[in-house]
Amino acid sequence: MEADPQTRPGKSPRSVTAAEKEQARAVSLRRIGRLFTPYARPLTIVVATIVASSVVALASPFLLRAVIDDALPAQDVVLLAWLAAGMVAVAAVTAVLGVVQTWLSTRIGQQVMHRLRTDVFAHLQRQSLAFFTRTRTGEVQSRITNDIGGMQSVVTSTATAVAANLTTVIATAAAMAALSWQLSLITLVVMPPAVWATRRVAGMRRAITARQQRELADLNVTVEEGLSVSGIQLSKTLGAGPAVVERFTASSERLIDLELRSQLAGRWRMASMSVLFAAVPAVIYLGAGLVPGTMTIGTLVAFTTLQAGLFRPLMGLLNVGVSIVSSLALFARIFEYLDLPVEVDDPEHPVEVDPARVRGHVRLEDVTFTYPGSDVAAVAGVTLDVPAGTTLALVGETGSGKTTLAGLVARLHDPDAGRVTIDGVDLRDMRLADLAAVVGVVSQETYLLHTTVRENLRYARPDATDAEIEDAARAAQVHDLIAALPEGYDTVVGSRGHRFSGGEKQRLAIARTLLRDPRVLVLDEATSALDTETERAVQRAFDAVAAGRTTITIAHRLSTVRAADRIAVVDHGRVAESGTHDDLVAGGGRYAALAA
Ligand SMILES: Nc1ncnc2c1ncn2[C@@H]1O[C@H](COP(=O)(O)OP(=O)(O)OP(=O)(O)O)[C@@H](O)[C@H]1O
Ligand SMILES: [Mg+2]
Repeated sequence: MEADPQTRPGKSPRSVTAAEKEQARAVSLRRIGRLFTPYARPLTIVVATIVASSVVALASPFLLRAVIDDALPAQDVVLLAWLAAGMVAVAAVTAVLGVVQTWLSTRIGQQVMHRLRTDVFAHLQRQSLAFFTRTRTGEVQSRITNDIGGMQSVVTSTATAVAANLTTVIATAAAMAALSWQLSLITLVVMPPAVWATRRVAGMRRAITARQQRELADLNVTVEEGLSVSGIQLSKTLGAGPAVVERFTASSERLIDLELRSQLAGRWRMASMSVLFAAVPAVIYLGAGLVPGTMTIGTLVAFTTLQAGLFRPLMGLLNVGVSIVSSLALFARIFEYLDLPVEVDDPEHPVEVDPARVRGHVRLEDVTFTYPGSDVAAVAGVTLDVPAGTTLALVGETGSGKTTLAGLVARLHDPDAGRVTIDGVDLRDMRLADLAAVVGVVSQETYLLHTTVRENLRYARPDATDAEIEDAARAAQVHDLIAALPEGYDTVVGSRGHRFSGGEKQRLAIARTLLRDPRVLVLDEATSALDTETERAVQRAFDAVAAGRTTITIAHRLSTVRAADRIAVVDHGRVAESGTHDDLVAGGGRYAALAA
């Protein structure tokens, strides 16, 4: 089954949607249980502390009754002192139990969350490039931070609250019945409508909060799109600034209204609660007067105390459904990510390849590839032979499929038909780690990490020495540039390397690739126009890396093309013609027209 996260934006755990109910139904409870099996013992202790503290807390009303009915009328100071001490002790014991319980449940929650977070991260890291192109930016990040972050609250709040509320409700009800069954009956009549009313008001509030959160999320997207480096570039160059501001203003305006309604609903909720908290005991006092027989004042006070303590856990239990559905939906979303099939995966029975001894003979045999969701093949029936140590230049119009072809050689995608081989071994039979050691890629758009230049280069080979890094930079014609930076190799590249020009970034990427010393090199020349000086530097860098390797260059510059052993002209995903520069010029075809 193909999971498409794009259609499922992250939901706030406060509202339950139909989609979430669906997800919750699908999730396997056993699988959730398995996550917690390593923590069976601490979990048992958590449950024990919850039960213990609810039972201990029940002693309070009985102590209160003894104070009112026995100690005070009899003026028995010793008994009174004991009872008072008992009340303090009950509070202290429940407090300590609460601390222990919070400590344990937070620890369990954090550990489960840590495991899921690392599992999801590692699994997503194995996903193919196609997965990331079709998944909305931010979606993946949101899953890792929000959904898995929500885990902690599932364990520490939802699970413990359910257990605590349940024990409190049962224990309190038992104690109430023990004190007076008649008053318990009255409570049974009065409580349900009170609870119902409170829930209605709370429900309204929740609906508003949910809308508010959606609106806030929209606002965040606008901020992200409007105030990031790339977003600002886009809006400035497209003159979309006013539209972005307008959208932001409208979103912000809707938030005013929502916040107002949310505050009012909150106020209403508080008001209805306080009326109920006064009304229910009042009805019970009234009932006590109607109950025939003797009812001590102590019993009545103890009873109303218990009753007041019943309200919150009862409400909590009634809301359990919502929390459970959203918790299950949370797990479902996380599991969905963990279950995503890995499209480009390590082979089950890899062919043994020694990256150090690979010669680097690259062949594409009748390769066809269509991007998922697209109905035109980006590469169709391409056959290319690049003997070890030679250079192939790919030329062609924009969108003709050159980058896609290069991606196939690096196994960023798997062909739908045909095969790509290196030294006769199908890439799909090679370990991904071996392939990465054999094929190096300098892509069209260079991605630099937000760290120092040195660390960016070392990312390619963590054990590279400073001297090796500088040698690579020299060969890539970028050493002088780096040396001239304020802090040299320790200069932090700006967000995504925006402080470097396209040509500079690409030379940094070449240096990075040189450190890996791959047998097969795929170079996707930056399309941005370079001044002659830079172009010459990039050309020298390309020549330096190409020496002694099989090189496939996507060339936009004639100088690169001419130097190649062979040239292939790509057109609409097909190889229109190929040969040496002289052959092609003599042939008088498309290349001849381009080169003229
Ligand atoms: N992730 C993707 N999903 C769907 N279609 C894609 C994707 N990437 C590229 N394409 C399409 O595949 C075709 C080939 O794209 P490719 O990037 O290989 O072109 P190119 O020759 O490298 O162009 P340029 O010279 O502009 O870099 C284009 O029509 C493009 O729209
Ligand atoms: Mg391209």
